[in-house]
Amino acid sequence: MTLSRRTLLLGATALAAGAAAAGHGLVPALAAPGPTLRLGSRVIEVNGRAATVMAIEGPAGDGLRLAPGAPFRARLRNALDQETLIHWHGQTPPQDQDGVAGIPLPSLQPGEQRDYAFTPRAGTHWMHSHVGLSVQSLLAAPLIVADELTGFDTEHVLLLQDFTFRDPEEIFAELTGPMDDHAMMHGVHLNDVAYDAFLANHRTLADPEVLRLAPGSRLRLRLINAAASSSFVIDSGALPLEVVALDGTPVVPRTIDLVPITPGQRVDLRLTLPKAGGSFPILARREGETARTGLILATPGAAIGRVAAQADAAAPAADNRLERLLRAARPLAAATPVHRLTGDLGGNHMGYHWSIALNGARGPIRSGERVELTLVNGGGMPHPIHLHGHHFAVIGLGGETRPDAALRDTVLVPPGGGRVTVAFDAGRPGRWMLHCHQLYHHHAGMMGFVTVEA
Ligand code: C2O
Ligand code: CU
Repeated sequence: MTLSRRTLLLGATALAAGAAAAGHGLVPALAAPGPTLRLGSRVIEVNGRAATVMAIEGPAGDGLRLAPGAPFRARLRNALDQETLIHWHGQTPPQDQDGVAGIPLPSLQPGEQRDYAFTPRAGTHWMHSHVGLSVQSLLAAPLIVADELTGFDTEHVLLLQDFTFRDPEEIFAELTGPMDDHAMMHGVHLNDVAYDAFLANHRTLADPEVLRLAPGSRLRLRLINAAASSSFVIDSGALPLEVVALDGTPVVPRTIDLVPITPGQRVDLRLTLPKAGGSFPILARREGETARTGLILATPGAAIGRVAAQADAAAPAADNRLERLLRAARPLAAATPVHRLTGDLGGNHMGYHWSIALNGARGPIRSGERVELTLVNGGGMPHPIHLHGHHFAVIGLGGETRPDAALRDTVLVPPGGGRVTVAFDAGRPGRWMLHCHQLYHHHAGMMGFVTVEA
């Protein structure tokens, strides 16, 4: 493979943009390529049946894990038989490394590769395809960047996914096709797609991962919801769930009963095992349904009981309780907004059209200007909305405002008139995509752009 002029230009732009981002630390050296992230396929077993899925394989397992202070460097190589491109969800690189096809670089054709280098943002993040429906084919992996949080004896990543043996294109065609079934869907409803399984690190509760931990030890569990269209509610039974970070950004730690997590979101938990020991299932329950997945924490010698993949009762709907209860460890500074935008989330199941209508900018939005964006959902389905290139403070929920709001990059906007206001300082110049992280809503048009000028 010859190094294209485009690849070289990308390096030069990254260097310039990196240097321009004052206070962002090291500009990565470009002399040597980073470790290879290979986009390929593999066979996994789901409930006893083989399935060919996609994967992002790094030098030490799926995805990447960066040491403290290390730059993000990677050589992305497309070994699939279809074009694709990867978005570094939670990172804020220059636009040409953001991984949205055509903005401005095209997707990678089979056999193509591209080099990336930027200064990463610490925390629990992830990477996933931003082309077509391949997130449903599991083209997603963790992207973990060491941060300053302490008070753990060990840590582990828990990647949640929804799984189907069907072709995602066929599911989408059904959703957008003639409406016998979903014509009946009126009022609020949570889930569009029926799944064959829900995966926790690619496994189901028929054969769950078991982490053996010392009694009294403190685990940092990095939850990533990489599902295409499923929100989960995390349930640990009697073991307290102490939330320490949302979407990679630290919060003031607080214990919360049931922890919701929508597609795109991350939640970092501190789980402290009782001195008396025992075994503790950490379950992700699909909202509104009985299905669940998860892993088991157990002290040495503790017996592991079998946990059924279906609960007796349906899980509650995901909601904004985390944004309501948690405060940022370092809140966004107070500032008067230069722009107040409204994002109307539109659409319904009649033809399965979904949209975001953005209004209200007072002229061009320039880097550094404070923006407030109010997302309004008059429809009957929840929408987890993600803004590329930024982390925002969730300052308004319904009527309530909160000055020390937690920061996120993906926020649930509940159905039936839900209103969520977020505030951020406009980031690097570019067209930053704002979209629903429910894959089928995104694919059906639920996206727009926040354009930032220098
Ligand atoms: Cu998780 Cu547009 O991305
Ligand atoms: Cu949506």
